[in-house]
Amino acid sequence: MSKFNAHITGIDAYVPDYILTNDELSRMVDTTDEWIMTRIGIKERRIMKDKDKASAFMGAEAVKKLLAKTNTSPDEIDLLVCATVTPDMQFPATGNIISDMVGIKNAFSHDLNAGCSSFLYALMEATKYVETGFAKKVIVVGTDKMSTIVDYTDRTVCPIFGDGAGAILLEPTTDKDLGIIDAELKVDGVGRKWLHQKAGGSLNPASHETVDAREHYIYQEGQPVFKYAVSRMADVSVDMMKKHDIKPDDLAWFVPHQANMRIIDATARRMGISPDQVMINIQRYGNTTSATLPLLLWEWENKLKKGDKLILSTFGAGFTWGAVYLKWAYDPKK
Ligand code: UT7
Repeated sequence: MSKFNAHITGIDAYVPDYILTNDELSRMVDTTDEWIMTRIGIKERRIMKDKDKASAFMGAEAVKKLLAKTNTSPDEIDLLVCATVTPDMQFPATGNIISDMVGIKNAFSHDLNAGCSSFLYALMEATKYVETGFAKKVIVVGTDKMSTIVDYTDRTVCPIFGDGAGAILLEPTTDKDLGIIDAELKVDGVGRKWLHQKAGGSLNPASHETVDAREHYIYQEGQPVFKYAVSRMADVSVDMMKKHDIKPDDLAWFVPHQANMRIIDATARRMGISPDQVMINIQRYGNTTSATLPLLLWEWENKLKKGDKLILSTFGAGFTWGAVYLKWAYDPKK
């Protein structure tokens, strides 16, 4: 057994200023505010309009704020893991670009792509480095400029996604009753047929044909994704509660991926928890993919108390899903 637990010691985030409302969307495609609110639960999302600013820029802004807030020098960072499905370029990794933008030089860094579960997977990877003592200060940053792969002529996809970034600092503690306690991470590659980006990879590289066929945008068949998401997120979250004997009233917060309000509600119902135990900001940001969980923790940071039991859960392209059980490690900072 390792000597250390990993615990989150700081969090910050960045969202672009531009707000894309349902009203504006309903002038772009055949949709309505009422349809989007009823079927998805999103009112508005943030969009990075500047063409020369993408995932690395947003991630770097979040990391700079995090370093300042936690009084950490870039030189102290041992590892930066960037969770993203919209890297600035195929290579080098967006994590490498962020490291350069914020002045991290004594570290290693890379990207992790597990669809909308990228941040959760990255958190667990970073946790293992901290638990073994291999790394002492690790940044996990989730950043996605989803607006670059959303087809704004496809009404079944364009209301869902938004842009944003969030970053956490992870450090070791010898208090084995705090921090990241347990995780269950899952994959079922069969899901790739319902949610993917057809072109731009080595199988189907960019060509005039792929551009003409709009194959660089998200392809999603919503219903199978919805069905899997509802059952799988609840399965792992309920398992985690049983395994650690967490009764519904013991859970301070459920922190779910923000893809659809109906998925969040159904999962919370199966866990037997009430809506006021659930962090929700989907109305204002939509699905920011790798940034949903850190954006939630960032907005709720001042309400979190040392020892609070949290379950984080995601579902996304792959399919990938999982749940992480953690005990929050600090009281609200004054
Ligand atoms: O984080 C990544 C993982 N992704 C997800 O978790 C997404 C999971 N899936 C979903 O959230 C939902 O399936 C959607 C929000 C994508 C779609 O909602 P739905 O309730 O499953 O709708 P549907 O696909 O069954 O479509 C119902 C109707 C269709 O019309 P007809 O065929 O019944 O006439 C659609 O064409 O709603 C229509 N529709 C729309 N109408 C107005 C689809 N999109 C829209 C729209 N506005 N934006």
